[in-house]
Amino acid sequence: MQAVKNDVQIKGAFKQFGSNVVLNGIDLEVKQGELLTLLGPSGCGKTTTLNLIAGFLEADSGEVFIKEKNVTKTPPYKRDLGMVFQTYSLFPHMTVYENLSFGLKLRKVPKADQAKKISRSLELVKMLGLEHRYPRELSGGQRQRVAIARALVVEPELLLLDEPLSNLDAKLRHELRAEIKRLQKEIGVTTIFVTHDQEEALSMSDRVVVMNGGKIEQISTPTEIYNHPKTEFVFNFIGKSNSFEGKIVGVENQKISVQMADDIFPVDIDNILGEDRSCRVGDEVKLYIRPEKIKIESTSANHLHKATITQMNYLGTAWEVDVTLSGKSLQILTPAYDSSWQVGSEVYVGWSPSETMLMKK
Ligand SMILES: Nc1ncnc2c1ncn2[C@@H]1O[C@H](COP(=O)(O)OP(=O)(O)OP(=O)(O)O)[C@@H](O)[C@H]1O
Ligand SMILES: [Mg+2]
Repeated sequence: MQAVKNDVQIKGAFKQFGSNVVLNGIDLEVKQGELLTLLGPSGCGKTTTLNLIAGFLEADSGEVFIKEKNVTKTPPYKRDLGMVFQTYSLFPHMTVYENLSFGLKLRKVPKADQAKKISRSLELVKMLGLEHRYPRELSGGQRQRVAIARALVVEPELLLLDEPLSNLDAKLRHELRAEIKRLQKEIGVTTIFVTHDQEEALSMSDRVVVMNGGKIEQISTPTEIYNHPKTEFVFNFIGKSNSFEGKIVGVENQKISVQMADDIFPVDIDNILGEDRSCRVGDEVKLYIRPEKIKIESTSANHLHKATITQMNYLGTAWEVDVTLSGKSLQILTPAYDSSWQVGSEVYVGWSPSETMLMKK
């Protein structure tokens, strides 16, 4: 079997601006043809990481490889990249056509070939026919698509997209997400996509890199990141969660029993978050459970725990039901709903040991 090649590799990158450590030991491999997302809160170092790859910035220490070539000291224009920047996109004084021909002229592509390549790129982003418009004559979404076409037209080895969908309304974001994904698979260009929107990252990526404070917390597929977060940060950053405190009262048969007030909850031993994976009876711990993993029923038939409804919100596709359980409030997201439920109703709730995450305090 042939090993999948890495198109980009970052080894041990550190970067400091004054006393602010912005990248604190980044190691990253991007496989050929994959769409990899850098996801994390504002200021965690996503754009800085892209700038290292693009060559706009040099790390204080560490190395960057593109197509297995060490490019740490190579200037940006020799790295063969297409990039859509976070802060600005098109040249305002140029038409769509001129915006796209700019990079081709720099690369001395003959005029006739330029026209062909430009048509092909505009076709890919569904913008044919608007060549002679200026950016100010386009909608926000059309501008973003032209920016993507401009990055693609030079047929780059690598595509870097820094929050290309910010400043767009929800519907357009949704459409362009799907379009970028389709386009990326169609031309097979290795792509690094930056976002701080977890839904965007989960829906688009082959793999997601979750960053926090200049470090990588986890690199995995979207389903792994969501269902098997490695750290508390990843768990909280991706999706909603309930958390509450308890004490370990038993450890046996791959299960940890945690007591919270009058209730005991089993947790799979594989679901310990964080570095400290040792667990003993008497340890104080925090339990985490996602709202959509909680079962809610009207009867005690399945040995669930007794709870009381405190609030109910209809969300269109599901109900958001808040309950109190042993004095703690829990949020539940459920598509099933009993019409007799109302604020004050007694219900029964529970979840599987495999759906609960645990972390030592
Ligand atoms: N040229 C610079 N000089 C000084 N500090 C900088 C510079 N560029 C970035 N920083 C700082 O480095 C940190 C990381 O910035 P970066 O732009 O990589 O964040 P980001 O993850 O892209 O955030 P956002 O989601 O807001 O775009 C921030 O604290 C930022 O203030
Ligand atoms: Mg940024």
